[in-house]
Amino acid sequence: MNLTADKTGFTGLPPLALYVHLPWCVRKCPYCDFNSHAAPRQIPAEDYFTTLLADLETELPDIWGRPVHSIFFGGGTPSLFNASWFAGLLREFRSRLRLVPDVEISLEVNPGTTERDSFAAYRDAGINRVSLGVQSFNEHSLKRLGRIHGRAEIDRSIDSIHRSGISNFNIDLMFGLPGQSISDAVSDIRLAIASGPSHVSHYQLTVEPNTAFFADPPSLPAADNAWDMQERCGQKLRTAGFGQYEISAWARAGQRCRHNLNYWQYGDFLGIGAGAHSKITLAAEGSVRRRIRHRHPRVYLQGGQNGEFLAEECLLSKDERVFEFFLNQLRLYDGVRKEQFTARTGVAWNDVSGRVDKAVSRGLLTDRGSLLKPTGLGWRFSNETQQIFLPGEV
Ligand SMILES: C[S@@+](CC[C@H](N)C(=O)[O-])C[C@H]1O[C@@H](n2cnc3c(N)ncnc32)[C@H](O)[C@@H]1O
Ligand code: SF4
Repeated sequence: MNLTADKTGFTGLPPLALYVHLPWCVRKCPYCDFNSHAAPRQIPAEDYFTTLLADLETELPDIWGRPVHSIFFGGGTPSLFNASWFAGLLREFRSRLRLVPDVEISLEVNPGTTERDSFAAYRDAGINRVSLGVQSFNEHSLKRLGRIHGRAEIDRSIDSIHRSGISNFNIDLMFGLPGQSISDAVSDIRLAIASGPSHVSHYQLTVEPNTAFFADPPSLPAADNAWDMQERCGQKLRTAGFGQYEISAWARAGQRCRHNLNYWQYGDFLGIGAGAHSKITLAAEGSVRRRIRHRHPRVYLQGGQNGEFLAEECLLSKDERVFEFFLNQLRLYDGVRKEQFTARTGVAWNDVSGRVDKAVSRGLLTDRGSLLKPTGLGWRFSNETQQIFLPGEV
């Protein structure tokens, strides 16, 4: 663990978000490499509740008094926990954290885990944004993806979300699925738009190491077809009034996900729960600290009994902060905000301007005064753009 700070020039503290990881699912999907585990017969909801709070307590001294702008319950499948569990947890959070009055509180939901009127109960518990893991509206694709739900459960969940009055509602959709045609992908995006979300996350399926799909790869659409799917689905979203603000994120005006935007703008986040990551600016010490919790829920719960939640802890070097800042901000369609650079990395702009000039001279970025924007080439070769900001590249 590297815990030596190098003196730097932070000019303030960025916004702070709270992420809460809930690591269980009904069963593991064959494409998923998230920290998610098939649930035991009885999820230890009460133990997890007390462990999360004990975990949060260890972080309070370093964030004391800072306003929290968003809370995200992610997974895994958070909707395996009932509304009263969230109500209780949010009550405890409110007594320990300074939540801003319009705090965004998101819940990831798997359509296969909800019951009638559960969204009204989640709303009453304090949830004001729902992210529904639809993935596809096509029965065949849902089966091929090993999902625990079909179209009927998706339709029922969407109906229940609308009846609950939660208008801030995201649909997670994937494209480039096994056996999917371009018209299948377009049909999925049409149905997604027709179901009235305020936000759509549109991900290309990737085959990740350590997944069942990696061990036994499905036949996926050719790269050209996947590109066409992305383009044609993007046109449909644009025509329907959605704006793209990140590689996979589309939102109606004023409905961007505050929580995810904070990650991409290299804000601070506190992550509690199994495997969760934190990034906290310690301005007085001139450093940024990363912490990673024990990944396996059993180890995390056991560690919690004696206050040992962490698998890893380090202070980020100047070079790491610069790289992470660009890695995240370069995902944003609005571009990289120069004025956020020193505030969020503690590094002077002069220290990075040579690398920026290099990216501009290679045609990967354009310099528009207060903003840096990737060019078409920069989007296409985003790895090359990012590499310019790798530690030790200057
Ligand atoms: C952590 S999952 C949360 C949603 C919830 N667990 C569910 O599946 O319904 C977040 C989203 O990442 C996307 N995702 C997961 N694995 C992916 C992969 N291999 N390729 C592309 N997108 C993926 C899915 O759209 C998924 O809904
Ligand atoms: S339900 Fe979501 S988190 Fe769980 S295994 Fe499937 S994709 Fe991963």
